[in-house]
Amino acid sequence: MNAKLASRTMTAQEAAELIHHGDVIGASGFTPSGYPKVIPVALAARAVQAHEAGLPFQVSLYTGASTGDELDGVLARAKALSRRLPYQSNADVRAGINAGEIEFTDMHLSHVGQMVRWGFLPKPTVALVEAVDVTADGRIYLSASGGASASYLQTADRILIELNAFYGHGLKGYHDVYIPEDMPNRQTIPLLHAGDRIGTDYVQVDPAKIMAIVETNLADRSGAFREPDEASKTIASHILEFLKREKKLGRLNGDQPYQSGVGNVANAVLGSMASDPAQPPVSIFTEVMQDSVVQLLLNDKLVVASGAAMTLSPACQTLFKANMDAWRDKFVIRQMEISNSAGLARRLGIIAMNTALEMDIFGNVNSTHVMGTKMMNGIGGSGDFTRNAFLPIFMTPSTAKGGAISSIVPMVTHVDHTEHDTMVFVTEQGLADVRGMGPERRAREIIEKCAHPDYRPLLLDYLEEGLRNGSRHTPVTLGRAFEFHKRFLETGSMMS
Ligand code: COA
Repeated sequence: MNAKLASRTMTAQEAAELIHHGDVIGASGFTPSGYPKVIPVALAARAVQAHEAGLPFQVSLYTGASTGDELDGVLARAKALSRRLPYQSNADVRAGINAGEIEFTDMHLSHVGQMVRWGFLPKPTVALVEAVDVTADGRIYLSASGGASASYLQTADRILIELNAFYGHGLKGYHDVYIPEDMPNRQTIPLLHAGDRIGTDYVQVDPAKIMAIVETNLADRSGAFREPDEASKTIASHILEFLKREKKLGRLNGDQPYQSGVGNVANAVLGSMASDPAQPPVSIFTEVMQDSVVQLLLNDKLVVASGAAMTLSPACQTLFKANMDAWRDKFVIRQMEISNSAGLARRLGIIAMNTALEMDIFGNVNSTHVMGTKMMNGIGGSGDFTRNAFLPIFMTPSTAKGGAISSIVPMVTHVDHTEHDTMVFVTEQGLADVRGMGPERRAREIIEKCAHPDYRPLLLDYLEEGLRNGSRHTPVTLGRAFEFHKRFLETGSMMS
C-alpha cells in the first residue's frame, strides 16, 4: 500500500470515531454480500455509549439492499438508525420500522443512485464500503456487491473503507462500474447482451476523501440454502414446463436472460434448470447471483450471469474463491442502477421470476406488507424487473401459515405490482397465464389454476357476488374486498 494510504489505516474503533450523530451513511452491501463488517459494530458500540450518557446518536443508512447482521442488526439493536433505505430484511430493523422508530423509504432499487446524485435524497455524508483493493490514485475495487456504492462514493465527502482479504485481489475484474451521464447529456446505455462490460472494474474517487482504511479478513455471513421443499419443487416444475411450451410455440426466442428473485423458491427454480438434462445454457440478468447460478455454471448451463451481488452460501463462497480466476468471464457484478435498469430489462427481453406475499384474483401483487400494514422487506428490484420484463412471472405457495392464509385473495391489502404489469402466476397448484385477458377471465383463471382448493369456493363466491351486483368489468364488492384479511385478524384463519 502506498505510504499516503498506509497512513490512513486504523482500527475499526478509530474509523467509527469519524462518523457523527446525524451522518448519512451510504454503505456497500447487497443481501448479505460485500457489506462492511467491523466499522458498523464499533459504531453501534459508540451509539450505545452515547445513549448511556444521555446523548443522541443516530445515523441514516442507505445501502444496496439488505445486508448482514454486522451492519443492519447491530445498528438497529443499538437504536442507532433514524432512517433506512432502500430495502432490508433484518428482523431487528423490521421491528424498528414497524414500531415507527426507523423511517423506512421502500424504493425501486434502480432509482436509488440517481436520486442520491440529484439530491432528491439527503446526500450521503459518509461512504462506508467494503473493497478488495484501493490505489493511491483513488481506484476502489469493490468486494462481492455493487449495489449503489459508486454513487455513494462519488457524493460523500468522507470515505471509509474496509479492505477485506477474504476474496482479496482475485475478485478484481468482476465488477463493471458504469454510471449514466447526467441530463441533458445522457447517452444510450451501451449494453446489448447480459454479459457485456461497459464500464470500469473499479470506482474512481478523489483519494483525498479516503479518511480510513480498516483491514479485515471476513466471509460474508450468508446462510446455507434449504433443500427445496415439495411446494418449491412443484412451482419450479410448473415454470419449466411453461417455458418449454412457450419455446415450442416460438414465443421465447434464443437466449432471453432470466431474472430470479431472492430466497429459497427462486433458488429452487434455477436449481431445477441446472439439473434438467434438456435445459440449454442460459444467461442470467438479475439482481442477486445465488448458489443456483453457480450450479448452472458447474453443469455447463450458464452462458453468463450479471447481477448486483454474488450472494453465496458458505460452501459456495469457498468454491467461488477457489475458482475466481477461471470464472471471471462468467460473472459480472454491476451497480444496481444498471443490473435493474428498466430500459435494459426491456431491451434484453428478460424473463422475470419473483415471489409474492399475496396476489389478488385480478392480478395485483403485494410483495411487501403483511396484512397491508406490517413491512416485511421491501419491494427491492421486483418492480424494476416486473414492469419491464418480456415475461413477468410471480410465484408463491398457495397458502401460508399452515393453510390459515390464502396467498390468493379477493383484493391485495397493498399494491406493489399492478394488474397492468403482471402476466403469469404460479403456485404449487398450477400456473395461470393471464396475458390478454379481461378482469373476469383473469379472476377465473387465477382461482382455478393457482388458489388452494380449500379457498376456491370462497373466492368464486366473492367473484360471483361482484358480477351479480352489476360490476361486470371489474367485479369488486367493496364491502367484502378485505373479508379474508378481516377474518384472519379476528379468528386466526382466512377460512373459518
Ligand atoms: N400473509 C402473511 N404472511 C405471509 C404471507 C401472506 N400472504 N405469505 C407468506 N407469509 C409469511 C410466511 O409464512 C413466512 O413467515 P415466517 O418468516 O414467519 O415463516 C414469511 O412470510 C416469508 O415467506 P416465505 O414463504 O418464506 O417467502 P420468501 O422467503 O420466499 O419471501 C417475500 C417472500 C415476498 C417476503 C420475498 O420474496 C420478498 O421480500 N420479496 C420482495 C422483494 C423482491 O421480490 N426482491 C427480488 C427482486 S430481484
